[in-house]
Amino acid sequence: MSGFLKIEQLAKAYGGARPVFADVSFTLEKGEFVCIIGHSGCGKTTILNVLAGLDRASEGVVLMDGREVAGPSLERGVVFQGHALMPWLTVRQNIAFAVRSRWPEMKADELRAHVEKYVAMVGLSPAIDKKPSELSGGMKQRVGIARAFSIAPKMLLLDEPFGALDALTRGTIQDELMAIVRQTQQTVFMITHDVDEAILLADRILLMSNGSEHESTYTPGGIAEVVVNPLPRERTRAGLHHMDGYYELRNHIVDFLVTRARAH
Ligand SMILES: Nc1ncnc2c1ncn2[C@@H]1O[C@H](COP(=O)(O)OP(=O)(O)OP(=O)(O)O)[C@@H](O)[C@H]1O
Ligand SMILES: [Mg+2]
Repeated sequence: MSGFLKIEQLAKAYGGARPVFADVSFTLEKGEFVCIIGHSGCGKTTILNVLAGLDRASEGVVLMDGREVAGPSLERGVVFQGHALMPWLTVRQNIAFAVRSRWPEMKADELRAHVEKYVAMVGLSPAIDKKPSELSGGMKQRVGIARAFSIAPKMLLLDEPFGALDALTRGTIQDELMAIVRQTQQTVFMITHDVDEAILLADRILLMSNGSEHESTYTPGGIAEVVVNPLPRERTRAGLHHMDGYYELRNHIVDFLVTRARAH
């Protein structure tokens, strides 16, 4: 257990404001899928941006593979809540753009095959030459996922990647993501608001609390608890509810969100 990604004593204050969170430490092992769950405003996106190198913490360090994360890198694939595709480029061109930034020397036919492979992986081959405006929300989100995977990042950072999708599409893409992650043994850090999604996908679930004020004493937000998912790794959405331990786990997380995650 070396800790592929190490987050040590992270704190973040914006401007002169009091810290959103403090003393945030956790590790991710290679190939591990970790979800973070917590109410709006507790600082989840801020943490993800720091891990991505897109924002700096006020205190603490992030180490990936023993090296400090100090800026954005193609070693980390990020999927934002909005899909963030370039609207004037087709699916193929959007992904090719990312692949070319990663491997500028790649030959045209190799590039083509590489792009097609990742588009096929998310089931979008028939739409490969369409522009984002011609795709549904779920399809756009899949392009974002294909793009993140196509640069073979050392880890994936996902900020509520399915937040805007209807339940049915969400389910399909969750299953797809899980299959791809298992296949490629990706290391994933994902933000979600959806308890079942966390239970389906994550090996461990970080429960994050909001900063709170009590009798004029302010306590910054932080990781209140790390829950290890006891369910066997081979799980499906349909089968989740029948698994031993599912309800205990779900109740524990919901209970945290309702009673402990923020001061009332
Ligand atoms: N650029 C910024 N400048 C000032 N304050 C910010 C900035 N970005 C975020 N914040 C504040 O930091 C806190 C945490 O924001 P963050 O976006 O990390 O929350 P979150 O947990 O991702 O919430 P949500 O679930 O709504 O996405 C919020 O109070 C927010 O107002
Ligand atoms: Mg957020």
